[in-house]
Amino acid sequence: MASPTSASLAERFRDRLPLGPETPIVTLGEGSTPLLPAPRLSARLDLDVWLKWEGANPTGSFKDRGMTIALSKAVEEGRQAVVCASTGNTAASAAAYAARAGLPALVLQPAGAVALGKLAQARALGARVLEVRGSFDQALAAARQLTERGTHVLVNSLNPYRLEGQKTAAFEILEELGEPPAVLALPYGGGGNTRAYAMGFEEADAGLPRLVAVESSRRAETAASAIRISSPAHASEVEQALARTGGTVVQVSDEALLEAWRALAQEEGIFCEPASAAPVAGLAQAQLAKGTRVVCVITGHGLKDPEAVERLTPPPLTVDPDPDAIAAVA
Ligand code: F0G
Repeated sequence: MASPTSASLAERFRDRLPLGPETPIVTLGEGSTPLLPAPRLSARLDLDVWLKWEGANPTGSFKDRGMTIALSKAVEEGRQAVVCASTGNTAASAAAYAARAGLPALVLQPAGAVALGKLAQARALGARVLEVRGSFDQALAAARQLTERGTHVLVNSLNPYRLEGQKTAAFEILEELGEPPAVLALPYGGGGNTRAYAMGFEEADAGLPRLVAVESSRRAETAASAIRISSPAHASEVEQALARTGGTVVQVSDEALLEAWRALAQEEGIFCEPASAAPVAGLAQAQLAKGTRVVCVITGHGLKDPEAVERLTPPPLTVDPDPDAIAAVA
């Protein structure tokens, strides 16, 4: 018997998910992630900032919320294999949940553009990893075409079960705060997650936060490889969701994004991957009133992208095991 704290997201929110009594739940213990106050960022930005720490999910990103439902339904429907195109996190999550379900996973990644930790995950978890000569957008088009042959079920966020699972993050925020925050800020890549939060808050019917979807000003070339996506698959639905919530898209430079990444790590102790710092970078530009309560969704773990750390932080010094030498440079 699962204790309440280890309950899967599917068990916790079963009545609000498209699950029947017979649906086999494919879970790794996702969801129930921390919502952390950010006192130093709050003081510096003159806002009341909270961080929804989605790097605490089993594979280190928010994708697990959707993948548990997508794989549960794939098993229920008797599907034989899954496929996704990915900048890395969807691939890692699909690989893990497919392994858990006993199904093969095929992942298509833009060649040379996926962070090392994510690639390691997909490989270790036994997915068939193909590096596509082309962009994420081209890999996604290929994945969609492949699924038309009927051999694989697509587990990108175009699979509606993915969004159903991801909407549960909104339920958790409502549980913790007792009401919606004034603003919810999150990275905007393909836009599936923005849609999922809008769905979650709308279904909960407890009021809507303004959604601030933060994208890179250089979508096709950003250093934040997770959101290196030229044309968001959910663009028109995101636009509608933002209109319904009085929200907006904000664009940030890579410099601002990486500065926010450093601040999250060094001021708040949250080591995320670069793309996940986008909402914090976006706050400075969103022109919010003093004291506004904002939840920033921190989507992925920093261990996913060790090369970013290599590029962005000074290397450690090497010293002899001698206290004088150590004290001299400490
Ligand atoms: N943050 C991270 C860490 C991501 O990996 C992604 C998307 C996003 C934000 C953007 O979310 O697409 O729903 O707007 N990653 C996808 C992937 C593209 O393949 O892992 P979105």
